[in-house]
Amino acid sequence: MNESLFLKNLWYFVMHGSKLEKGKLQGREIVGEKIVFGRDPDGKPFALRDNCPHRGVPLSQGWYDGKEIQCCYHGWRFDTAGTCLGIPALFDEKFNASKIKVFQYPVREINGTIWVYIPHNKLQIADADERLPDLLVPKDKDFLHVETVTMPADIDHSVIGLIDPAHVTFVHQSWYWRSAKKLKLKEKKFEPDGMGFKMVRHAPSSNSKGYSVLKGGTSTEINFQLPGVRTEHIKVGDREIVSITCLTPINENETELNHIFYTSISVIKYLWWPLRFLGKQFIHQDLGVFRKLNEGLQSKPTLMLLGEPDAQARWYFELKRAWSMSVQNKTPFVNPVEGKTLHWIT
Ligand code: FES
Ligand SMILES: [Fe+2]
Repeated sequence: MNESLFLKNLWYFVMHGSKLEKGKLQGREIVGEKIVFGRDPDGKPFALRDNCPHRGVPLSQGWYDGKEIQCCYHGWRFDTAGTCLGIPALFDEKFNASKIKVFQYPVREINGTIWVYIPHNKLQIADADERLPDLLVPKDKDFLHVETVTMPADIDHSVIGLIDPAHVTFVHQSWYWRSAKKLKLKEKKFEPDGMGFKMVRHAPSSNSKGYSVLKGGTSTEINFQLPGVRTEHIKVGDREIVSITCLTPINENETELNHIFYTSISVIKYLWWPLRFLGKQFIHQDLGVFRKLNEGLQSKPTLMLLGEPDAQARWYFELKRAWSMSVQNKTPFVNPVEGKTLHWIT
């Protein structure tokens, strides 16, 4: 296993809150760790290591009545915090079952989306909350769910595909979005930001017809944060649109992409279904080229990152290295990105 592929001590997007039903368990794989998700009696999400501490059967395969999880092998019972409540076959009145615990991952529901914290060291999770992602949306507002797809690629290829400006012309060409014939030199200013970098707020490019439906004082800021969250914040006058793509590694070969959307522009809410259709189409264009990429990568070719169109991909690797070092050495993270104006033709 390639240890440096996955970053720890970070929050990962799990799913849109609407997908996690009360009274049901869902087993997931995130950065190669098996985790069972559910909602406790108050409706709050919980996340436990998906192995029964007895003999390792996935707890997600057991029973759940909305309060207690029961393993399907020997019936050990657990509460939603992972504490053992009872061992049916054990005849020992003095034995204290609550000494047995399943590892509980920190989990949060933010603006209707569920995030899990993957620690480097399972004994040190105290400072998890300091790193919660900023989703830019008012506390009481929820994101809409656009799409979820599984990319047949590791997290690195998936992130590069997400922040790569040069593929847009060739992968995302549609008559109503862009035409490959009208290429222009783009110049975008970047700055380091948090655990990533941002493209400084600017007016959207004029050959992007998708934006022309939004009249009046439009500007965009695009931000990328480790481990793989790209946020596009569009201001239209005093209103806003927040469009977020989250990449969550499943394992070394697959990455889940989730797209979520929020807007305070009421007219856009009426356009939600056509917009969602466009969003899905966009994502499936990426998925299409990723299937081809996966085919190409089978022969393990040597790859390159070339020039300014690939500068963001290089920053991503620098950020990853810096984050891994700070976790391993328990030293503060120093953002290695230097502000720069990048040029490319799209
Ligand atoms: S493996 Fe779960 S109760 Fe035995
Ligand atoms: Fe894309």
